[in-house]
Amino acid sequence: MAADVSSRRWVVWLLLTMAICLSCAEAGRGQVPAKRRLEVQRQLRRLNKRAVRSIKSPDGDIIDCVHISHQPAFDHPSFKNHTIQMRPAFHPEGLQFGDSKVASQKRTPPLSQPWHQHGRCPKNTIPIRRTRRKDALRASSISKYGRKKHKSIPNPLSVDPDLLNESGHQHAISYVDGDTYYGAKATINVWEPKIQQANEFSLSQLWILGGSFGEDLNSIEAGWQVSPDLYGDNNTRLFTYWTSDSYQATGCYNLLCSGFIQISSEIAMGATIYPISRYGGSQYDISILVWKDPREGHWWMQFGNDYVLGYWPSFLFSYLADSASMIEWGGEVVNSEPDGEHTSTAMGSGHFPGEGFGKASYFRNIQIVDDSNKLRTPTGVGTFTERSSCYDVRIGDGGQWGHYFYYGGPGRNSNCP
Ligand SMILES: *[C@@H]1O[C@H](CO)[C@@H](O)[C@H](O)[C@H]1NC(C)=O
Ligand SMILES: *[C@@H]1O[C@H](CO)[C@@H](O)[C@H](O)[C@H]1NC(C)=O
Ligand SMILES: *[C@@H]1O[C@H](CO)[C@@H](O)[C@H](O)[C@H]1NC(C)=O
Repeated sequence: MAADVSSRRWVVWLLLTMAICLSCAEAGRGQVPAKRRLEVQRQLRRLNKRAVRSIKSPDGDIIDCVHISHQPAFDHPSFKNHTIQMRPAFHPEGLQFGDSKVASQKRTPPLSQPWHQHGRCPKNTIPIRRTRRKDALRASSISKYGRKKHKSIPNPLSVDPDLLNESGHQHAISYVDGDTYYGAKATINVWEPKIQQANEFSLSQLWILGGSFGEDLNSIEAGWQVSPDLYGDNNTRLFTYWTSDSYQATGCYNLLCSGFIQISSEIAMGATIYPISRYGGSQYDISILVWKDPREGHWWMQFGNDYVLGYWPSFLFSYLADSASMIEWGGEVVNSEPDGEHTSTAMGSGHFPGEGFGKASYFRNIQIVDDSNKLRTPTGVGTFTERSSCYDVRIGDGGQWGHYFYYGGPGRNSNCP
């Protein structure tokens, strides 16, 4: 009986919301100038490729299954003669993927994406999260859609502390530098941090960096993020990013520009992932490996035990065409200082590292790939955070977790006003 009433109420609520949304969408359309509307239309035609099949995800996304040779990478003339590599020539040696069973020793379901509940992409296609009109309209301009707004790579080596705070991005990371690196791996605890304002984001990722922190910095990034601006909701999503000129003219998130070549028909970049860890409850994590194929030189990405997602061709990069000079792992948030105070956007679980397992967010089994294509525990791991009273990081070592660290925090609090 109770269920009946609540479901009826739910239907009424749903109808009301739909009515409101329809009218606001109409109002929204009226306010968009014709020139912008046309630009957005053109952009959507460019971004959204002809789909063999489209799948409506329960979270509201539409996933287009696009033939592998029609993916966005091939929009760029430099890909004209590129033959897709359907598998990496090499995997790094010593690869041992821990499954997502963590210290609680409870058997946890494998990571999934909600669109799988409504179908799968056929062979020889790749799943692409469709860019909707409302997505494109949220961006401040067409050219900025899908791209980072500011240079925001944490530079622990900077000698100018003022520069660190400038962009409003805050980090809590661990890192290695001073050697040549050919990849990195980590198992990252998954959360859904609260975002105070839509123009802020919170992410947890690894960075593969080449070159100095100048205008020509090369970066490959992968992890999870919550970004209302980019996706229109607060879901935790799998993402990648790349740039070969410090976020100026090249690079983008996911498949939003020509760059990454995807081969997996199973995982969609930018799509929601679940399950999410609960404070004081079950913990879930994802494994990400990025490595350079020593034969072809491409940078490959693998997600979990099972999914080789694809690769960034070596010719996208300058420094990274050879090797990486620094690896970073950790969290980043945007502090837009709403109300002139520090943002309350959370990093990781929103709790400080001191709270430990089940409460704080972690990276475990962090590793690098060395010049003989072997996965190794890194040595000389440093940590960095702009303001440890807002977001902090604490490293540890030992046991099944290898090198690990806890990181994150709530942002605004009495010590971080
Ligand atoms: C593709 O191959 C053709 C013929 O070999 C060559 O003329 C052209 O420059 C190549 N294009 C690129 C972008 O490499
Ligand atoms: C995201 O979360 C914020 C607060 O945490 C909320 O104000 C906002 O409405 C949410 N956005 C969406 C699209 O659900
Ligand atoms: C960043 O700015 C805050 C507040 O202005 C300051 O307390 C902190 O020390 C700065 N961090 C660095 C690394 O300069």
